[in-house]
Amino acid sequence: MKFFVDTADVKEIKELHQLGLVDGVTTNPSLILKSGGKITEVTKQICDIVEGPVSAEVVATEFPQMIKEAKVLAKIAKNVCIKVPLTLDGLRACRAIRNDLGRMVNVTLCFSANQALLAAKAGASFISPFVGRIDDTGSDGMELISEIRQIYDNYDYPTEILTASVRTVNHVKQAALIGADVITAPPATLRALVSHPLTDKGLAAFIADWAKTGQKIA
Ligand code: G3P
Repeated sequence: MKFFVDTADVKEIKELHQLGLVDGVTTNPSLILKSGGKITEVTKQICDIVEGPVSAEVVATEFPQMIKEAKVLAKIAKNVCIKVPLTLDGLRACRAIRNDLGRMVNVTLCFSANQALLAAKAGASFISPFVGRIDDTGSDGMELISEIRQIYDNYDYPTEILTASVRTVNHVKQAALIGADVITAPPATLRALVSHPLTDKGLAAFIADWAKTGQKIA
């Protein structure tokens, strides 16, 4: 399973990248706002750190302007993956960006299996179902991941399932059990994956016993 980090915070990306936890990055207009930077500059800084796909989102809602924006974003770096919304114009842009610009496309704001089917048919590299936001409505976001997995496997669609709006470590585990290709999570959630109280307790005991031996390894 690939781990993408869902942030436009360059410092966080650098730190997580050093830990080997970053296979790619996803950003969106809200995350760019939070970063306080200009989308082209922030995206360039991220692409200088990360070799894998870095999603940068168009903000236009109509096809011609989406393509104009996609061209600007694509120029930033070779690993920029253009993110488009799951609308009819977005799906049309997905096809054009894949065929004419030869770029990866991440189709975002997916909330149903049929939407995911349309994205696969449009040649999306990634589909981004927002599990946390589905949970917020009282439904189960992970059911959607299972449905998409089944549909994509039924037809051998190469579109990768990028589980997004991940809020908890349990979302990561469930997505992995179902066989999602990618999760994108905020830095805090990625860091939390390593935590277990028995690991902390066990390590403290080993360190205390080791001190009593009076030995040094190096
Ligand atoms: O990956 C999509 C993500 O940025 C949305 O997350 O927590 O705002 O639903 P959230």
